[in-house]
Amino acid sequence: MSEIIDVAVIGGGPGGYVAAIRCAQLGLDTVCIDAWKNSKGRASLGGTCLNVGCIPSKALLESSEYFFQVKHKISAHGIQVKDATVDVPAMIARKDKIVTTFTAGIASLFKKNKVKSLLGTGKLLKRSETDKAWRIEVNDNNNVQIIQAKYVIVATGSIPRQLPTVKVDNERILDNVGALSLHETPKRLGVIGAGVIGLEMGSVWRRLGSEVTILEALPDFLMAADDQVAKEAKKIFTKDPGLVIHTEIEIKSIKVTKKFVTVNYQDANANTQKLEVDKLIVSIGRVPNTEGLGSNENGLDLDERGFIAVDDFCRTNLTNVFAVGDVVRGPMLAHKASEEGVAVAEAIAAIEKGHNPEVGAVNFNTIPWVIYTSPEIAWVGKNEQELKKAGVSYKVGQFPFIANGRARAMNSASGFVKVLSDAGNDRVLGVHMIGPHVSELISEAVMAMAFSACSEDIACIVHAHPSLSEVLHEAALGVNNRALHI
Ligand code: FAD
Ligand code: NAI
Repeated sequence: MSEIIDVAVIGGGPGGYVAAIRCAQLGLDTVCIDAWKNSKGRASLGGTCLNVGCIPSKALLESSEYFFQVKHKISAHGIQVKDATVDVPAMIARKDKIVTTFTAGIASLFKKNKVKSLLGTGKLLKRSETDKAWRIEVNDNNNVQIIQAKYVIVATGSIPRQLPTVKVDNERILDNVGALSLHETPKRLGVIGAGVIGLEMGSVWRRLGSEVTILEALPDFLMAADDQVAKEAKKIFTKDPGLVIHTEIEIKSIKVTKKFVTVNYQDANANTQKLEVDKLIVSIGRVPNTEGLGSNENGLDLDERGFIAVDDFCRTNLTNVFAVGDVVRGPMLAHKASEEGVAVAEAIAAIEKGHNPEVGAVNFNTIPWVIYTSPEIAWVGKNEQELKKAGVSYKVGQFPFIANGRARAMNSASGFVKVLSDAGNDRVLGVHMIGPHVSELISEAVMAMAFSACSEDIACIVHAHPSLSEVLHEAALGVNNRALHI
């Protein structure tokens, strides 16, 4: 490709592929370079999210929840099912099919929007003064081509953080890739890290029958969540004797034999403990992926934690080079990556038209978080501990699902919704939820915050009856002591 194109996007995950589509929609000649290959060696767009992240994990969470309901909960509805069994390979095959459908779907979207797709690793080459554009080397199994682009969007994502002493083989020691592809339910499953992946993947295999033990370094878990939500979650999760969470532990050594994995750790009381499991998931966070990008040579600045350094508008230190998604600061979430991708596409189009490129800093305060456990957890905005620390005066309204008719009818009534609003002007500062389908309910709270609504605005909106959304309504009413059903 000798001509100079408008935009080269490096990385085809939710940050990169969305940026590429939006660039093309805005009339920019766009190429997306992505290195991900499926088991057949073919391109598989969608990055971590589609291949080994959001979508496959939700597919397995859904399937395993059905099994759990049939096995343990459905009798409450007067339905008796005897000897329910699970076909794990069929469950995994269903998940794989969903992934293939969606990754192929992105290829179709590229075609429709005229985004050119290149398979290979993209390396941003050092720019000399005589270069008219950025040059990117695209390498697929030593088939190398150079493309030239006026603008570059780096969206190379993240990879699992490793424990220094133990290597993931995805046979016995698993990261997210292995944890999503087991073909039988391990009898005993260990998980290191009670974060989002640990809780979601621990839930999948627990629902299918594993005895799950989670080892967490911090004194508590879900540190990013509102304290009260985290406490409620721990209380509910650990009611199940098959799910044990040990906090404040320190891993001392991990030994892998043909049959077992043995984890030696120190517990919260400084006693030495041993955990023997059949499989061990290591989910201790993710790190930015800048390997292969050439940052040592091209002068791209990284911050002290290895993320590509960017400003509020995702601009790097290199002119016309932007970076979005997991490879830059901020929450590692697919929707955050995509929003940044769109904002950068709009900024590039604005520069091309001679307009101000500072068109869209993504507002992290209105980015929702969802953890797809049972019950689900979701939040947006500030939590109580953050407001206290910042010295903000706030009001609280809270309502439990147990007092909601729809939740009772669903036999899924644990948890609550909590609305926090400014004590002075009643603006919603944060909404925190634990309960059924809160992954969907949170959108109303996001909308309210995006439009700077007051709790009274939510309280004034008519909510369908009977619906789970009434719990948010009642929590909003509760901010000014007007709740009706409690
Ligand atoms: P990625 O999705 O990581 O994509 C980066 C792409 O760039 C990859 O295809 C990679 O191969 C490619 N690449 C890297 N380097 C190069 C190079 N030099 N040249 C060419 N290509 C390159 N987030 C949510 O919001 N909701 C969820 O429910 C959720 N569930 C998750 C479950 C799991 C198990 C995991 C692991 C993550 C989950 N996430 C979830 C996080 C989400 O997957 C990430 O935030 C999101 O994928 C980040 O998007 P991205 O485009 O920045 O990077
Ligand atoms: P995480 O940051 O959510 O959790 C990692 C946990 O491991 C933390 O609680 C941490 O204290 C603990 N830990 C770290 N080192 C440890 C050690 N040596 N021993 C014991 N515990 C240790 O990271 P996780 O779960 O790996 O997920 C990575 C990211 O992927 C998440 O932060 C999130 O951004 C994204 N994700 C999002 C999902 C969603 O939106 N539903 C689902 C899954 C992942």
